[in-house]
Amino acid sequence: MAQNKWIAALGVGSVVGLLALGMQTEAAPQQGHGGGNMVSKAEAQLIPTTKTDSKVKGTIYFEKTSKGMHVHGEITGLTPGEHGFHVHEFGIWSPDGMSSGGHFNPTKAAHSSHDSPKRHVGDLGNVKADDRGKAMVDLDDDELSFEGANCILGRGLVVHEKADDLKSQPAGNAGGRLAVAIIGVARP
Ligand code: CU
Ligand code: ZN
Repeated sequence: MAQNKWIAALGVGSVVGLLALGMQTEAAPQQGHGGGNMVSKAEAQLIPTTKTDSKVKGTIYFEKTSKGMHVHGEITGLTPGEHGFHVHEFGIWSPDGMSSGGHFNPTKAAHSSHDSPKRHVGDLGNVKADDRGKAMVDLDDDELSFEGANCILGRGLVVHEKADDLKSQPAGNAGGRLAVAIIGVARP
């Protein structure tokens, strides 16, 4: 009898052990390392629009930080001065850039500046090009995300012809679209 009980206990122990093992293998992909759904970095390669005779290109990186997102990179081929810079709703390039839709705005807010507490999630303000037409991008953000309603993966990144005035509705009167990128998952 005693031996049978011991065998039964061993059986239960094995089942518990296997369950624990099963839970572990299911949890593992959440840790990242190439698998699973935890994205930590995205990349957007700006492609010049053709209807505008644009030469604007560049690569912008989005990196998850403890406080939100760090956005950085370089854009070339601009006219000197400020140019509107936004995440748009759709990650689609077209000859005039219009297929990228309006500003990414999941919270149904009004258009505003990047530092405004109420803004389109996609409102990143302006980039500023130097005399040679090069703009360095380096900003921190606490609204852009790689998950949930504010997820920017698969959406568009747009550089405009003119400066975003940061107040005109619905898009800051920034004029034509000189380059459009698709924000995609990058190698971490
Ligand atoms: Cu825009
Ligand atoms: Zn906007």
